[in-house]
Order: sequence, then structure tokens, then C-alpha cells
Amino acid sequence: GDVAVLVPAAGMGVRLGPGGPKALRLLGGQPLLVHAVRRVAAAAGVGCVVVAAPPAEVDAVRALLAGVAPATVVAGGDTRQASVAAALAAVPANFEIILVHDAARALTPPEQVAQVAEAVRAGHDAVIPVLPVVDTIKEVAASGAVVGTVDRSVLRAVQTPQGFRREVLAAAHAAAVDEHTDDAGMVEKLGVTVYCVPGDEAAMKITRPVDLVIAEALLARTLR
Ligand code: C5P
Repeated sequence: GDVAVLVPAAGMGVRLGPGGPKALRLLGGQPLLVHAVRRVAAAAGVGCVVVAAPPAEVDAVRALLAGVAPATVVAGGDTRQASVAAALAAVPANFEIILVHDAARALTPPEQVAQVAEAVRAGHDAVIPVLPVVDTIKEVAASGAVVGTVDRSVLRAVQTPQGFRREVLAAAHAAAVDEHTDDAGMVEKLGVTVYCVPGDEAAMKITRPVDLVIAEALLARTLR
């Protein structure tokens, strides 16, 4: 495979409540990171997985993943962007397609990973999986007064993995001045066109306590 997947997993998951680094929280008895790495490693074309772990947990994460899939584990940074940069630096030079994932999207199907990589291989510099927005979205002033209603039909909710030609992602990280939580957003600032492919509800981001409840149900469904 010519595809490398970066898995930033160094966040503390404060919004999930107390309990240590989010990527090591359990879902169906296994850490979120184990679910995520198993699925990306199973995707067609993937030949390299690099995990950015909390600096104090690098050895523990290496041991955790030993029986799951071949993966390189590096120390993450203070921000997601720094963790992505650390992981990117550990990818061997022969990988031309780089996917950036989130450990928090633990149940992302291997097929979604493969489809994003395939769209990059087909010629797109940057590719993101997206879903339609289901809620009505309002722009609201600090006072609480509604400023306006955004036309939902032009909006999309963005998932991961996001896929890039390696030079494009490296250039975006080299050019970034402020912090970004979205790699595609960094690439947009370079003037590069980002292309959308369909996402999957199973690639939901596990952020709040309710998300763990939903993810447990999704996991039980896929095991049945
Ligand atoms: O906090 P949030 O859910 O937005 O984090 C998204 C992903 O980025 C998570 O997988 C988290 O572990 C990772 N992250 C990281 N390094 C940080 C902060 C977040 O690898 N310093």
C-alpha cells in the first residue's frame, strides 16, 4: 500500500468528562484507539499507520497496539495540529498519499478510509468525507439575538480521515501560522481545492458522553 494514515490520539478528551486520555477510554471493552487503528489498518491500500500518543503514554500505547496492527507510535503535541505534524514527520518518504484521522472517530469503516485514499489517487489534492447537516443552523449574536438562518442545503458536516497528496499536506503545515483543528482548512488557505466524498454515520466523532452511548449501540449492531 502507498497510503499512510496519521492517527492523532494525544488529546485529553475534557468534554467527555474525567477519565484520562480520550483515545484510551473504553468502548465495548476496548480503547477507542484500538478500534480506530484496527479499522484503518484493514483498509485497502494502507501500508503505514502512525499514532501520536499522549507523551506520557507512548510506551503503553505501543504495547496496546502490538497485537492489533503494525503501527509507529510517536509523542503527540500540545495541539492536534502539533500532533499531526509529529506523526507526519515519522512517515517514510515512499508514502505519497497521507490520510489524517481522529482516534475519536473510532468506528470509521475501512471502506470510508479506502474511498478517501482512492479519491486522492484519482487526482484530487485534498479529499474530505462529509454528511448533510440535519439541524437548522442559526447565526446568533453575543446578545442571544438571531442574526439570520443559514441555508442548510449548502452546508456539510466534515468527518475524517481527510486525504492529501503528501506535498500538499506538508506545505499546509509548513505555511500554517495559527492553530487549526481541521487539516483541510489549512490546505484551503493555500488555495488548493478540497473535494468531498460521502461520509458514513459510523464515522461519528466521540466527543461528549452521549456519543459513547450511541457508539456502543453502533458497535453492538456491527457485531451482531
Ligand atoms: O479534542 P478533539 O476531539 O477535537 O480531538 C480530535 C483528535 O485530535 C482526537 O483524536 C485527539 O486525541 C487528537 N488530539 C491530539 N493532540 C492534541 C489534541 C487532540 O492528538 N494535543
